[in-house]
Amino acid sequence: MRTREKAGDAARAGIMRVLFFGDIVGRVGRHALEETLPRWRDELDPDIIIANGENTAGGVGITRSIAEELFDLGVEVITLGNHTFAQRDVVPLLEHDHRVLRPANYPPGVPGLGYGVFPTPAGPLAVLCLLGRVFMDPVDDPFQTAETLVPLLKQETRCMLIDAHAEATSEKAALAWMLDGRVSAVIGTHTHVQTADERVLPAGTAFITDVGMVGPRDSILGVQHDIIIKRFQTWMPARFEVAKGAALVNAVSVDLDTATGRALSIARLARVLDTPPFTK
Ligand SMILES: [Fe+2]
Ligand SMILES: [Fe+2]
Repeated sequence: MRTREKAGDAARAGIMRVLFFGDIVGRVGRHALEETLPRWRDELDPDIIIANGENTAGGVGITRSIAEELFDLGVEVITLGNHTFAQRDVVPLLEHDHRVLRPANYPPGVPGLGYGVFPTPAGPLAVLCLLGRVFMDPVDDPFQTAETLVPLLKQETRCMLIDAHAEATSEKAALAWMLDGRVSAVIGTHTHVQTADERVLPAGTAFITDVGMVGPRDSILGVQHDIIIKRFQTWMPARFEVAKGAALVNAVSVDLDTATGRALSIARLARVLDTPPFTK
């Protein structure tokens, strides 16, 4: 576990800072993370760094070696989403490394864990990963799953973050409002488009509908745009290729009051990297 080393530590007493990166897409996204994470870690001094890794392996899924790559960079918890099982070797990864979380509302018997409690210099943080059902596969009810798991995790720590991985803005907002005051943050993922609605809800839950992505900027949600245009024109199946070129890095920084578990603030972060080596 890391400890705080910075001069501003006293001012941060009783506060946990979480840095959360949106869906990392392919090699461009991984390179952009490699370039950005150390800089933002120095600037923000987060207590824990979380990233959604469901698109890290060529745009769909994650592998063991890529998970190791992210951990080596300084990511401490990896959340996933609807692409969790796209790569075969994710199963042993989920079984053996519980820093990698798949959505908690998959049916019983699915490998891996959907939540965990992680040590930070400011105390433990519970992380829970939920998958939406609107315009997505009909997994188990994320609302009921939250109602079951949030009280259990609350026994371990007041500080809790939910990755709400969903297509519909309404489904993510409903989760956030349902849980307002009961969890510290509901961070939306999956659409790869950062929304400008970050706020702390009245009872103390930080919320953003979607944190965005870390991936190729000149793309459609990370994929080469010509492929997606053709698909809309013809509805013929097509192999999705991650786009190249400039990268977009989207994240949020959330400050939590560790005594109450309430969020104090949430800030959107965005950066464009448009010069090599991000064209690899
Ligand atoms: Fe997704
Ligand atoms: Fe994604």
